[in-house]
Amino acid sequence: MFDRLWNDYKAITPVAEKIHSQFSEHGESVFNDHIAIRTFNHELLSIEKVAEPFIKMGYKCLGTYDFPEKKLKAKHYWDESNPDLPKVFISEIQTEKLPKSIQQLIDQHVFQKLSISTDLVFNKNTWGKAHYDVYQTLSDESEYLGWLYAHGICVNHFTVDTNKLHSFQSLEEVNTFLKSKGHKLNLVGGEIKGSQTEYLEQSSTISEERLYSFVEGEFMIPTCFYEFSRRYEIPGKNTLFQGFIAESANKIFESTNRLKAS
Ligand code: NI
Repeated sequence: MFDRLWNDYKAITPVAEKIHSQFSEHGESVFNDHIAIRTFNHELLSIEKVAEPFIKMGYKCLGTYDFPEKKLKAKHYWDESNPDLPKVFISEIQTEKLPKSIQQLIDQHVFQKLSISTDLVFNKNTWGKAHYDVYQTLSDESEYLGWLYAHGICVNHFTVDTNKLHSFQSLEEVNTFLKSKGHKLNLVGGEIKGSQTEYLEQSSTISEERLYSFVEGEFMIPTCFYEFSRRYEIPGKNTLFQGFIAESANKIFESTNRLKAS
């Protein structure tokens, strides 16, 4: 399952494969902390629907999160008996909280055009090829929404578990390594989101803009990004924190924002 998802993801995120091999050349084996998937809160596309194949594998919901400002909700799933498997973080946009005109566009271009088979996460945009003008209108309302409409339900990022890298003692050292290789990091909320006192630090690359095929032709849009996590022990528990920090995730979502002309 995760191999297939990685293959789909690296096809549109060549920077992830490049960084992966740069770690390998550095003598490291890369483990994946979590993957993240975006969806709509529609009854056929909800977090719970996307989670079904993971639940079948033995995953359980271990946390819920709210992002009122971005009109998002999220849950994270994991199989604690298989700790080398990644956690799965699934978020959904609360469409009823969007303006009526945007809800109508989503209804017309997504919900009325669904052709669902099993395993949503391999279906991508089951609503068909996106229209660039609709993509722009939706992105202006919500960068998350525009991205989701264009790319569909797929893995938005994989995450390097930097606790399992041997030659890096901190996330700062990992970031320095990435920058020395010419990679650009997401600076929203600082290069490192979270802190040791919250038991989780995260950084990420900025999504590359790549040519993407729309009904009207090809246009440059942000694709996916690669994330890096460092987890800390909860005092007295003798185990690493395995949840997520809503405030950090809130900023990580912005890794797929369109580049602003400056
Ligand atoms: Ni993440």
